[in-house]
Amino acid sequence: MRASPRKWGTYKPECFHGIHPMNTTRQELSEPMTPAKSAASADATPRQAAPIRPRKAPRSMRNMLSLEDFEEAARRVLPRPIFGYISGGVETDASLRGNRSAFAEYNFIPRVLVSTRGRSQRTTLFGRTYDLPFGFAPMGGTALAAYLGDTVLARAAAELNIPMIQSGASLTRLEHLKEVGPTAWFQAYLPGAPEIIVPLVERAQRGGFDTLVLTVDVPVAANRENNVRNGYSSPLKPSPRLAWDCMVRPRWLFGTFGRTVMKQGMPHLENMGFERIPVLSGNVERPRLSRDGLCWEHLELMRRIWKGKLVVKGVLAKEDVRVARESGADGVIVSNHGGRQLDGAVAPLRVLPGIVAEAGNMAIMMDSGIRRGTDVLKALALGAHFVFVGRPFLYAATIAGDDGVHHAVKLLREEIDRDMAMLGISSPSAMPREFLVPSSGPLS
Ligand SMILES: Cc1cc2nc3c(=O)[nH]c(=O)nc-3n(C[C@H](O)[C@H](O)[C@H](O)COP(=O)(O)O)c2cc1C
Repeated sequence: MRASPRKWGTYKPECFHGIHPMNTTRQELSEPMTPAKSAASADATPRQAAPIRPRKAPRSMRNMLSLEDFEEAARRVLPRPIFGYISGGVETDASLRGNRSAFAEYNFIPRVLVSTRGRSQRTTLFGRTYDLPFGFAPMGGTALAAYLGDTVLARAAAELNIPMIQSGASLTRLEHLKEVGPTAWFQAYLPGAPEIIVPLVERAQRGGFDTLVLTVDVPVAANRENNVRNGYSSPLKPSPRLAWDCMVRPRWLFGTFGRTVMKQGMPHLENMGFERIPVLSGNVERPRLSRDGLCWEHLELMRRIWKGKLVVKGVLAKEDVRVARESGADGVIVSNHGGRQLDGAVAPLRVLPGIVAEAGNMAIMMDSGIRRGTDVLKALALGAHFVFVGRPFLYAATIAGDDGVHHAVKLLREEIDRDMAMLGISSPSAMPREFLVPSSGPLS
C-alpha cells in the first residue's frame, strides 16, 4: 500500500467538523474524535494497539528530562573516541548545527477550545500501524557503545510497537536481530556491484525483514576530522592512547566491552556483504568497497528482487525523490545523515515541502536533529508522514540499556502528547501546515 499525499490547508478544529444538528450537546461536541488516518496509508486498516506498558524509570534516569540530557551523561560513560564518533558531525559541523536551527525557523499558531481528549499517536506507515510517529534511525557500531546495543534497541522498539532500523554497519547478525525485534527494518550499505547487492538483499529477505532501506548519502567516507583527533577508526587500532581512553572509562570497559567479549566474543561487522571484520584489530583493514559507483540502476535491480517495501535514505533533492518514485521505491527518508556526511548539506526540514510535492504515493520520512516533540510535529506539518531519531536513543541505551531507551521514548511521547493538546489536534497525522509560520518576518 502506498502513501497518498498529505492535503494541506484543510484544517478544521476537530469539534467543528461539518454542521452539527441543532440538538447537538456540548458534551457530544467534546467527544474525542477518531484520529485522522495517516496520510502514509489511507487504505490501511489501523489495528487497536495495546496501551504502552508503563515502566518505572530507574534512579539514573531521574535527571534525564529531555532527549538532549542523554548526551552529557553518555559522554561520561564512553571512551573519548567512541563518544566522538557518535556525537560528531563532519568538518565544520555546519550541517549538524543547521539541523537544529532549522526547527527554530518555524513557530506555531495553536488553536484553542478544541477537545483533544481522545489523543492518540498511532500512525500508519506501509500498511502497519505503529503506536508512535517516530522510530530509531540506523546506527552502526551501536553494540560497541551500549551492551547488546542493537538487541536493546530492537527489543524496545518491538515492545513499544515502533520501527527500529538495523544498520548495515551493525555488530549483530541481521538474522538474530529480526528474531528479537519483529518491528525492525534492515538498512544496507552497498557498493555498485550486483555480486554484493544480490546476496545481501536475498539474505535480508531470508532473515524475515519486510522493509529494506538503502542508504545513498555515503558514496565515499566522510571527512570526520573529529574521528582522527579523538583516535577513532574502524576497526579500532590498539594503541597506548586507546588503552588509556578506555581505562578512564571503567564502566564502559568492564560493563560493555569486557562483558561483550567475555559473553559473545569480539564484535564484528556482520552485515556489510563482505567477510566479517572485528571492531578492534591491529592488522585487519576494512575493505573499502567503493560506493561511488552505486546508482539508480542498482536501486532498480534491488526493486526487482526485493519483495517488501523499499526505502531510499539520505535524499535531499526533490528531483531525486521523483527518480526514486519512478525507480519503484515505496518511500524515502529525507536526511543529511545527522550532519555526518557532506558538511553544509541542507537541513532536511527545510526541503520537506518541495519533496512532498514530488513524492506521489511514496511515504516521506525524515531524520536529522529531531530532539523535541515540537520538532516531530513541525516535520509532520511540513509533510513528513513519520520521523526517525538517532543519537539520543543510542545514548539512552549506553547509559541504562532497556530502561534508558524506554525512558527516552517516554519523554518524547509525552512531549508530543502535551504539544498536541496545546495545538488542538488529536492525532499527529492531523497536524496541519497552516499551524506553522516563519519565526521571523511579517505575518499576513
Ligand atoms: C553513531 C551513528 C552511526 C550511524 N550509522 C548509520 C548507518 O550505519 N547507516 C545509516 O544509514 N545511517 C547511519 N547514521 C545516521 C542515522 O541513521 C541518522 O540519519 C542520524 O543519526 C539522524 O540524526 P540525529 O542523530 O541527529 O537524530 C548514523 C548516525 C550515528 C550518530
